[in-house]
Amino acid sequence: MLLGTQRINGKGALEIGGCDTVELAREFGTPLYVLDEDYFRDTCRRYRAAFESRYPEVEISFSGKAFMATAVCRIVDQEGLSLDVSSGGELYTGLRAAFPPARILLHGSNKSREELAMAADAGVGRVVLDNLPEVYLLQEVAAEKSKTVDVLLRVTPGVRADTHTHIQTGEVDTKFGFSMVGGAARQGAAAALNARNLEFRGIHCHIGSQIFDLAPFRQAAEMMVDFAAQLRQEVGCVVEELDLGGGLGVRYLPEDEPPSLEEYAEAVTAAVRARCEKHGFPLPKLLQEPGRCLVGEAGTTLYTVGVVKDIPGVRTYVSVDGGMSDNPRPALYDARYDAIVANKATEPRTTKVTVSGKHCETDTLIADLEAPEMAPGDILAVQTTGAYNYSMASNYNRLPRPAVVLLSDGRAELIAERETLDDLVRLDRMPDHLRPGESHAGTSPQ
Ligand code: LLP
Repeated sequence: MLLGTQRINGKGALEIGGCDTVELAREFGTPLYVLDEDYFRDTCRRYRAAFESRYPEVEISFSGKAFMATAVCRIVDQEGLSLDVSSGGELYTGLRAAFPPARILLHGSNKSREELAMAADAGVGRVVLDNLPEVYLLQEVAAEKSKTVDVLLRVTPGVRADTHTHIQTGEVDTKFGFSMVGGAARQGAAAALNARNLEFRGIHCHIGSQIFDLAPFRQAAEMMVDFAAQLRQEVGCVVEELDLGGGLGVRYLPEDEPPSLEEYAEAVTAAVRARCEKHGFPLPKLLQEPGRCLVGEAGTTLYTVGVVKDIPGVRTYVSVDGGMSDNPRPALYDARYDAIVANKATEPRTTKVTVSGKHCETDTLIADLEAPEMAPGDILAVQTTGAYNYSMASNYNRLPRPAVVLLSDGRAELIAERETLDDLVRLDRMPDHLRPGESHAGTSPQ
């Protein structure tokens, strides 16, 4: 499977953005996240075009949680997309990247007063309200600052999407949002409408992530328009904006066949149109918040192969120099990946191996990968790691987080440094009685 600008060059090596990945591994070290800039930009454009050509007014936000870095925010801004952030940290990153605040949406199921204050001070375009206490808290914060904040109401339509249970978020039984069932959403809308410093703009939902089936997207769109009609009748508020979240899946494996961006846009916009017509409802502005499908396939992780352990008749373990700290998704969601041995990209895949990380865990990255015979020093390129990899990376086992390099037209530019060993102890503090040379005067354990 070759994605975006990936190709095999004359040396039989994997190339991305005109850069030889084997040389990148040598120059920047491994593990290394690389991002195919042209593919990322192209996907942003296609997504915009798919919606803009089918619907009168749309605003597409990149969901920053998928891959947050200041340079990524700049690309998103240049491509004319808005930015959805889900914490003070993501908001801060966007603002540091000089992302126009009016095109930022703040999410979160448990936003703090500080986060809401930061959003109000920055003048973000929308705050997406998640629960009733937050309506009152944001009203209080906005009033203190004599500001008016535009808000959307996050609603849970009760739609079950066929994806891993950890990333289903549209059901009734979820921590997110105001439930449509039982009247919580109606109550939330009324509260937002009555809050003097909040401007109610519309409603939002997000049913889950890595979804291939278009039916739940259609269903959610229909239910949201029905709910907008209900709000007009019962609460007297006008839904000017309808935000249907993100969630479209990407290709992790050659056999994966997600719908195209165009098929997805057609399904969603047709559902909204038809339902609005039914209710005699003017078409609201349509908001979208894709994360994974914009950046997922544009990212690749390069690792160096270390120990190769063959257990005859059982399995061959190929260990790489990263693992669950740079990609926790196999452990969290049973996620599966494909990979190319970057320096043997033309060799036939004659063996089956299990690719493991180097953590003190059974951190299988890829089970049963068909690959050429591997040896220490080979460079393994794991594909489709652009979404929820760098953004979910940790320092487990005190592994420094990898660098991120942006690739385009044969140029490779660092957009995030590799953490150093000093970074790992930078925040540690030593109380006096633990300083080297101090002995412990207290009682020793029995
Ligand atoms: N909008 C909201 C409110 C969301 O919660 C999310 C993702 C998105 C948009 C973007 O969804 P996407 O288009 O990327 O599917 N860490 C998990 C995914 C968690 C998704 C959380 N919300 C994973 O690695 O699969």
